[in-house]
Amino acid sequence: MPQTSRQKPIEVPVPGARQGSRPVIAVANRLPVQRGDDGWELSPGGLVTALRPVMETHPGAWVGWDGGTKGMPATLPGSDVRLQPIALSAAQSRDYYRGFANATMWPLLHNAIEKPRFERAWWRAYQEVNGLFAERALAALADYPDAVAWVHDYHLTLVPRLIRARRPGQPIGFFLHVPWPSPDIYARLPWREQVLTGLLGADVIAFHTDDYRFNFLRSVARQLEDSGVEVRGSSVLLPDGREVVTATAPISIDAADLAATALDPEVKAGVRALEEQFSGRTLLLGVDRLDYTKGIIERLLAVEMLLERNPALRTSLAFLQIAVPSRDEVREYRQLRGTVEQHVGRINGLFTEPGNDVPVHYLYRGLSPRQLSAYYAFADALLVTPLIDGMNLVCKEYVTVQAAHGGSGALILSEFTGAAVELSQAVLCNPFDVEGLSYRIEHALSLEPGTRRKNLAAMAEHVRAHDVHHWVSGQLSLIAAHGAAAAD
Ligand code: UDP
Ligand code: G6P
Repeated sequence: MPQTSRQKPIEVPVPGARQGSRPVIAVANRLPVQRGDDGWELSPGGLVTALRPVMETHPGAWVGWDGGTKGMPATLPGSDVRLQPIALSAAQSRDYYRGFANATMWPLLHNAIEKPRFERAWWRAYQEVNGLFAERALAALADYPDAVAWVHDYHLTLVPRLIRARRPGQPIGFFLHVPWPSPDIYARLPWREQVLTGLLGADVIAFHTDDYRFNFLRSVARQLEDSGVEVRGSSVLLPDGREVVTATAPISIDAADLAATALDPEVKAGVRALEEQFSGRTLLLGVDRLDYTKGIIERLLAVEMLLERNPALRTSLAFLQIAVPSRDEVREYRQLRGTVEQHVGRINGLFTEPGNDVPVHYLYRGLSPRQLSAYYAFADALLVTPLIDGMNLVCKEYVTVQAAHGGSGALILSEFTGAAVELSQAVLCNPFDVEGLSYRIEHALSLEPGTRRKNLAAMAEHVRAHDVHHWVSGQLSLIAAHGAAAAD
């Protein structure tokens, strides 16, 4: 059994030829489009950022929930990828999406930092909706018989097995965008065997880090050994003789594209506006979905301690938090919003000097990638302090944009993120230690600009060399190679 330890990620082997333009059927909870001011456009978010290159280079289809919007286009804007929208009833979106996906699986897989809730009705809806996604994927696969099926994330763990049952020789990959917890935590799930056997329908199951992957293998050994399932090295052998391989493949961003757009006139105008707004002040930035995994409260408390210890900073430093509304119909998310807003109010009430601007700025909305780039380019430091985060793309975006602008920004990065395995030149922190975090921020700001620039350049270079194109081609090659081996 492999040891659990923080290690550098294993490079994913890229067996055989690159996958050229073999069709891909992507299956993910959400479709990657939203209605913007000028019609339908690609929606923001980590998963879409990651899958966009697939859509540009591969024909195929994307199966996903329409999110309740009607009149969606038949193909993805700017590509030939067919959209296959699934409509869910109000009860299904309540019990499958808000319930099982986001109040059972999300907290469970994030180390149970909020207590996962277990409801049989939610589990039934999860099975039912996974069945709908599998049916749609199978219909798309009938149109593209030589396609690779690529299933994503914790919403759809049962889909690989459902596809396998009907198309035994189908190459199927699964990528988990969130962590996998220790086997002790996973074992709390009443339906732990079913979720594991659902996933094991895939040929390849991939994770961001070795730790998550090893945790998964240990969960398989613990829960399924009695059913004749054997973990051998990094593979899982099933009673029917099939082999499932696991892989570590940290997801990334389209670094070249972001570095280029970071220099466009709209971004530069945004930076000038921020220079006027914060003239002469040091800007600390936080950018997250408003989620309890992101450590936003701990970050605010650390900023508060910083201002308490250093009265001069109350007028010379600003902290700006962009909080993107998320899952606000789930109880824990609504409560978090209230708590965050109380802290912002309290800190500003305590530390705003008469006649001066407030120290804490708070935006409760999502920004466009270009608007966000202006903040990345201008901020002196980015605070990425999750209590746990599968990867975190925001920090990869920050170092890329800062480097494109020749900046010397500091990255303060929680050691409990997948990104910390790769971005070792960041100022690493433990967000559970709030006072320690406040000193880590001080330390980051005290570093010589030359040191900061050197660290930034090393991190940006890592992201450039391990970009999302590298991730996609590695994943698709691996799925095709192991899928073909399984079919022989
Ligand atoms: N993002 C955005 N607008 C915002 C804030 C975030 O487009 O106002 C994007 C950001 O650029 C990044 C993604 O949302 O690509 C967040 O991904 P991350 O992995 O950091 O966190 P997740 O939300 O997936 O947990
Ligand atoms: C995380 C998940 C994604 C999800 C995204 C936005 O990044 O790993 O699967 O799409 O959050 O969450 P939402 O609930 O709005 O789709």
